[in-house]
Amino acid sequence: MSEVQVSEAEIAVHWQEEGYFYPPAKFIGQANANDPAIRERFAEKNFPECFKEYADLLTWDKYWHTTLDTSKAPFWKWFVGGKLNASFNCVDRHLAKYRNKAAFVWVPEPEDQVTQAITYQELYRRVNEMAALLRDYCGLKTGDRVTLHLPMVPDLPVTMLACARLGVIHSEVFGGFSGAACGGRIADSQSKILITMDAYYRNGELLDHKVKADEALAVAEKEGQKVDKVLIWQRHAGTYSSKTPMVKGRDFIVNDVLQEYKGKIVEPVSMPAEAPLFLMYTSGTTAKPKGAQHSTGGYLSYVAGTSKYYQDIHPEDTYWCFADIGWITGHSYIVYGPLALAATSVMYEGVPTYPDPGRPWRIAERLGVNIFHTAPTTIRMLRKLGPDEPKKYNYHFKHMTTVGEPIEPEVWRWYHHSVGKDEAVIVDTWWQTENGGFLCSTLPAFDKMKPGSAGPPVLGIYPTILDEQGNEVPRGSGKAGNICIRNPWPGIFQTVWGDPDRFVSTYYAKYNKKKDSTDWRDWPYFAGDGALQAEDGYFRILGRVDDVINVAGHRLGTKELESAALTVDEIAEAAAVPVIDDTRGRAVEMYIALKPGLKPDKQIEDKVSAAIDKLIGKIARPKNVWIVPDMPKTRSGKIMRRVIAGISNFTSPGDITTLANPEIVETIKHHVESEKVKSGQTPRELSQAEMEEIKAFGRVE
Ligand code: WTA
Repeated sequence: MSEVQVSEAEIAVHWQEEGYFYPPAKFIGQANANDPAIRERFAEKNFPECFKEYADLLTWDKYWHTTLDTSKAPFWKWFVGGKLNASFNCVDRHLAKYRNKAAFVWVPEPEDQVTQAITYQELYRRVNEMAALLRDYCGLKTGDRVTLHLPMVPDLPVTMLACARLGVIHSEVFGGFSGAACGGRIADSQSKILITMDAYYRNGELLDHKVKADEALAVAEKEGQKVDKVLIWQRHAGTYSSKTPMVKGRDFIVNDVLQEYKGKIVEPVSMPAEAPLFLMYTSGTTAKPKGAQHSTGGYLSYVAGTSKYYQDIHPEDTYWCFADIGWITGHSYIVYGPLALAATSVMYEGVPTYPDPGRPWRIAERLGVNIFHTAPTTIRMLRKLGPDEPKKYNYHFKHMTTVGEPIEPEVWRWYHHSVGKDEAVIVDTWWQTENGGFLCSTLPAFDKMKPGSAGPPVLGIYPTILDEQGNEVPRGSGKAGNICIRNPWPGIFQTVWGDPDRFVSTYYAKYNKKKDSTDWRDWPYFAGDGALQAEDGYFRILGRVDDVINVAGHRLGTKELESAALTVDEIAEAAAVPVIDDTRGRAVEMYIALKPGLKPDKQIEDKVSAAIDKLIGKIARPKNVWIVPDMPKTRSGKIMRRVIAGISNFTSPGDITTLANPEIVETIKHHVESEKVKSGQTPRELSQAEMEEIKAFGRVE
């Protein structure tokens, strides 16, 4: 059977070029990166030694002897021979100068609860006490893994830094993920300890979070991993705010146990640069999430360097990255990067629009935030619900970031004009969980901004766009391809936890021609995003070329969604597709075929949504579940996702002549379109790029 693999990346894209915006003079005057020679220092001819500049931002117990070791390519080793401790670098070393400066300012969601400032001194105390507890009460030691399932509370960075102090590898699971999703990650990382919380505030409600711990443990045990202890932080210290009972001998309240460790000091363990610092699970093409393993020395150097030059953080700034620490953005740009630079990092517990869409700007005004960092989803939501709110508040940003999804030029301009009051520089930073830190972004004092474009590569990164055959797609050709990074960099993850073969096959095998080569030039990193490079060298990122749907900046694998749906008894087949959504960027729609003899029923649709809630989390809940008589399939039985994606988005289902059952398309189309129209889901006109994305979704032809 002839099945052509057509890459959705290799499409011609025709959109108009956007006009430039320029960094304000006031910003340029104070920028950390203001020496024009900086690009020269990071030019390819100075690779890899250029990254010494980032490593030198840290305090090393022992200096390294080899900047980059490629002998086990593509398992790169950075700063070999060096030793350091991440917690020491983020906390202890700042005490002399910044003891009484706030490391974190935490804003609870309920507006009547008091904002808390945690100084570096206080953070030092709390991290030490928690480290003592982890070591002496839990028996954790260097190299062990521990799963955290914590919401946006200061106890989360305290716990992370306590782990880092001991060389214990933390694996934080986004608080919004379900208990089952957490359980799978506990099992995969073989954690014996789970650290969670009784409850937290979300949209005005105190949610029971402990309940998820019980589900997580049951799932982990089914997958062969027994958890010995569950440590529970209390959202209101001294009160247990969950309805879920404590399990005797297994569940412990952190605040109680900590009493025994008051005032304890734990020497930071000096770790080799290549020792793993943490795992961060992310979705890919199979149902099983991958644990991206990040290093201590390389990662911390990279986030410190990019925080300094690209976030332009000075110790006297008040920096607010409005993301969740449960994602890589939070690890790198709420915790490790800013703290390595002695910043004051703002943390907010809740949703952007609670109790109203003026909330973020009230926080900014009250705390004097001058650097603001968030995702297009948040920006779109605030623009939709409170377009005129920013001007009611007297705050001034010098710098703003957008991250996590492509941002529409219209939305970018609102961000610049309304949120930034035309006075802030904007960086659109493109990168991924696997990368540790930014890969493309304008250098804020030097580069002009172009709405919708991530800009040039960041210092020391040399990308290229390749077609399916590995030929370079030239800049300015108007053609897209697969964006790859030609060189290793210190922030790149070290491996997929427990699955080195998957690391190589997913990220490096595609364009590697010499398997045994130890020359980094033979190992382009395949990012899994489609992109094109304009004449001016700026990269525009189109989105994933693998089976991943980016919902509100969260990466969801179609296979994960489909296997969750397939746990519902009545279901024979399931296919997940993206639908363009004005707020969340993309939303998920599920197509379901029932087992023979069963009739469509609203209850089955609800069961599918409930299964996805339970196994992944509410963030993944489908916008619609469509029960169809059959899926459009190729003659070899593969589901043609692009056909149903076309239907879901009211665009053409494309060429259906290669289908085994072309007649089904009209039936599905009629049903879905009429139901959507009935429920007021008539679509807006899609842009060229959106149409191309939908047309290419799922890749199998
Ligand atoms: C997408 C988030 C366009 C991209 C840091 C990538 C972006 C995926 C941008 C990684 C951006 C991230 N413009 N698309 N500025 N930043 N993406 O792992 O598809 O949660 O592959 O890391 O988000 O998502 P992840």
